[in-house]
Amino acid sequence: MTFTVPDSELAALETRVRTALRKPGDTALPLLGHGEVTLVLELDTPHGSFACKRLPVFPDRSRFLAYEQVLDTYLRRLREGGVRVVETRLWHERQAEGGGITGYCVQQTLPRKRLCSSLLHSEGPAWAESFFTRFLDQVDGAVSPTLGLDAQASNWVDLDGELLYIDVTSPLMRDAGGDELLDVRLFFASLPWLVRDLVRVATARSIFDKFYTTRGVVLDFLGNLHKERLAGLIPGFLEQANARLPTPLTEDEVAGYYRADARSWALIQRLRKADRFWHRVLRRPYPYLLPPDVDR
Ligand SMILES: Nc1ncnc2c1ncn2[C@@H]1O[C@H](COP(=O)(O)OP(=O)(O)OP(=O)(O)O)[C@@H](O)[C@H]1O
Ligand SMILES: [Mg+2]
Repeated sequence: MTFTVPDSELAALETRVRTALRKPGDTALPLLGHGEVTLVLELDTPHGSFACKRLPVFPDRSRFLAYEQVLDTYLRRLREGGVRVVETRLWHERQAEGGGITGYCVQQTLPRKRLCSSLLHSEGPAWAESFFTRFLDQVDGAVSPTLGLDAQASNWVDLDGELLYIDVTSPLMRDAGGDELLDVRLFFASLPWLVRDLVRVATARSIFDKFYTTRGVVLDFLGNLHKERLAGLIPGFLEQANARLPTPLTEDEVAGYYRADARSWALIQRLRKADRFWHRVLRRPYPYLLPPDVDR
């Protein structure tokens, strides 16, 4: 599934994004989906449709090149670990005003119905069980103390019996000392200073810990089924997962984990919106595209 990035169309999309940031409300951007941090824009061209994930603006070339290297390594290591990652290209453009570099992770648009968070609603228990077996195989094969995975159901697509992973924009990798290789500061720049400092000082390491063990990744996946209104699937999945985990998970642990996770994301979203509000009051352009509120 190889493809060519539509260069001029992407440049035009970026121009629209910048207009939308300057004049919020004037331009509707074509949304494909969103997570907690980013928006995914859809770009329809004569050569196909693309999912374009806008990265935070890189202040200079060296920060961009560092990201490019981290992303390349992440894609390679995931594949070596047995994860089938959707073909992802990095596109970038220098901003004219001398204001850094804008980048997008670009993938081909995959059918929305094949997103595993949709299939878990539309398919029956047999599909769910086979999905979860393939999921556990890929997660367990890849995850290590230096290679992480954000394995929520909305990050996988099932195409022709193959489970593909799509969420690679924030590579989760650590060095031997346990520090993130990603430019975490840059990627958290949309969080208001208060959260940023909390994240940095108190929890920088621990909020990411869960992504680096199979147990943590599975706990996060199961917790998020509450958000997806799929909690009915939890007992069956727990049984499947516990057959492999050295320390079993319980329904209470999953529910407790989700409550805490939902609270912190809801708080972060409120703070971001307050921050955006004050930017507008002070007539400063707010530089980030915020995802819509998530029902929790
Ligand atoms: N290639 C694609 N084809 C179709 N839909 C996509 C594709 N990539 C992303 N999406 C949609 O956008 C959503 C969010 O994309 P993705 O998981 O890559 O980023 P994210 O969750 O926003 O990242 P983060 O949570 O780190 O902010 C997906 O759940 C899916 O609905
Ligand atoms: Mg995602």
